[in-house]
Amino acid sequence: MTRVRSIVRGVGGYLPQKVLTNAELAKTVDTSDEWIQQRVGIKQRHIAAEGEFTSDLAVAAARKALDNAGLTPDDIDLIVVATTTPDYTFPAAATLVQMKLGIHHGLAFDIQAVCSGFVYAVATADSYIKNGLANRALVIGAETFSRLLDWTDRGTCVLFGDGAGAMILEKTELAEGEPERGVLASALRSDGRHWDKLYVDGGPSTTGTTGHVHMQGPEVFRHAVGKITDVVYSALEKSGYSVDDLDWFVPHQANRRIIDGAGAKLGLPPEKVVITVDRHANTSAASVPLALSVALADGRIKPGDLVMLEAMGGGFTWGASLIRW
Ligand code: UT7
Repeated sequence: MTRVRSIVRGVGGYLPQKVLTNAELAKTVDTSDEWIQQRVGIKQRHIAAEGEFTSDLAVAAARKALDNAGLTPDDIDLIVVATTTPDYTFPAAATLVQMKLGIHHGLAFDIQAVCSGFVYAVATADSYIKNGLANRALVIGAETFSRLLDWTDRGTCVLFGDGAGAMILEKTELAEGEPERGVLASALRSDGRHWDKLYVDGGPSTTGTTGHVHMQGPEVFRHAVGKITDVVYSALEKSGYSVDDLDWFVPHQANRRIIDGAGAKLGLPPEKVVITVDRHANTSAASVPLALSVALADGRIKPGDLVMLEAMGGGFTWGASLIRW
């Protein structure tokens, strides 16, 4: 019997040109390069230019993923954009991406799971493919988080950056005896009781404004490592693998200390953990695909590798996805 699987055909990342270093930030807000590097592990972040929108970042990353896959926009029949910072309240950023890529068939929609958005989007696209609703999905995490920040609040403005990453998942029927590959298992969770530990104080139905990010940082930190490791174990259990089988761990890039804590709790050697938080900061839904694009471009992740994606964010939402490259 054939098995339908969503295999990864290509990945691409895009970062806006403007780089904002810790030293530059320290000129406008009461912080220091030393504090940010010590507590979070961030050295710099990228900031979208005026007039550069989330859908523009998404399209730039999508084009790189299409090039990487050797495909054209016409080959795509599903677009899922994970974002918390869409261009407009509606329509979905995904439909703007569809238009900008010149795609006039298939379907496109956004997913809102904040920093876990990309992992949610991978699991969603995988389900659409396995259920016969799509053949080739463009899965994107794209954010202009800089536009949700209160640039006078040192507790949040130093943490985030802008960027986008894209992955193409393709329906493949594995032949009898052919080894498993593609998305092997996903584990998704949420718990709305924690909504106000990390949220934006505005929205169409409450204030009619966009609002700014508010975070109880130490509270989020306290939950992060446990929740991350829970879903990682859950995805491993579903697919019959163990931590020792993993070639690469590509975590959400929010805080170097959280990544190190999760890696240590899982018993993963640090050299198997992909880190980009130092250069990208927390790009929310874009962080995992951006980290993936870096580790693929520098040749670390290779065909056949077993790769664990993981993220946790506002809601709280959290999730993991295990992929055989
Ligand atoms: O992507 C979604 C998930 N988000 C996260 O994973 C974020 C999770 N939380 C964190 O990463 C950390 O809690 C933070 C990096 C946000 C904060 O680090 P912390 O070690 O928990 O610091 P804190 O909030 O307990 O603050 C310690 C001190 C405070 O000063 P006092 O009260 O001890 O005098 C803060 O006012 O650090 C101060 N502080 C700063 N100092 C310099 C807070 N932000 C800054 C800053 N620069 N930017």
